[in-house]
Amino acid sequence: MDNASDKFFFTGTETEITEQAVAFIIAEAYRAVSDHGRFSLVLAGGNSPRSLYRQLAKGVANNERAASKGERTFMPWKKTWLFWGDERSVPADHQDSNYQMARETLLSQVPVPETHIFRMPAEQDDGNKAAREYEETLRSFFIARDSLSEQDFPIFDLVILGLGDDGHTASLFPDNAEALQETERWVVSVSEPLAKPPGKRLTLTLPAINHARNVLFFTIGREKAGLAKRIFSAEEKGVPASRIVPVNGKTFWFTVQL
Ligand code: 6PG
Repeated sequence: MDNASDKFFFTGTETEITEQAVAFIIAEAYRAVSDHGRFSLVLAGGNSPRSLYRQLAKGVANNERAASKGERTFMPWKKTWLFWGDERSVPADHQDSNYQMARETLLSQVPVPETHIFRMPAEQDDGNKAAREYEETLRSFFIARDSLSEQDFPIFDLVILGLGDDGHTASLFPDNAEALQETERWVVSVSEPLAKPPGKRLTLTLPAINHARNVLFFTIGREKAGLAKRIFSAEEKGVPASRIVPVNGKTFWFTVQL
């Protein structure tokens, strides 16, 4: 493990890193519930989190003894609220939907109340309207509970992020200066012809992510592990993921060396 005071870097096999990340997420959930009565978790999209979400649904064995007895600690799902970091402009049941991927690998397996799940309405034709809608959803959640003022930003307990080969994260892509320079909005609509899949998306903005208590990058693949390490050590400063620097939070990198 490599770390400074507010950032930590873990690397290993997919099994090791997935179990470590799940143990961290569950521990953070209980810490948040104990501290302020709830855990607000932002889910990432793409394919890498599939194994993470499946393992999160299974909980974690706290130690060897618990493991030998099959005892597991599960997330405090009744005290957990779920959001997304970004979403493609497709229907909620589409194979490219980040919500659908989470539904398949996690939401369908755990007792999180449906009223605690806040999907991004990215399928709407009017992306800006959809972005404003989701931002209102976030504002009503956080302002009601954290007595934030209008110009504050959401304070998510944990934001899970992936990493693209080009250093994008959420749907903040290197070629989209306007989205990367956003300083007020919490959610924006972007059009990404070079993304996989290409097209319109909704994404949290840098300030919305950077006010989180914790950010967790989860990446799979040797190339991404190399890029992750360069971003972590500030050798690489020019990609969107390099701009994830929590204002009052910590950053954890879990990178799987394939
Ligand atoms: C998305 C994701 C995106 C993803 C990276 C990595 O909607 O595509 O949010 O930021 O995390 O592109 O994707 P993989 O995990 O599939 O490599």
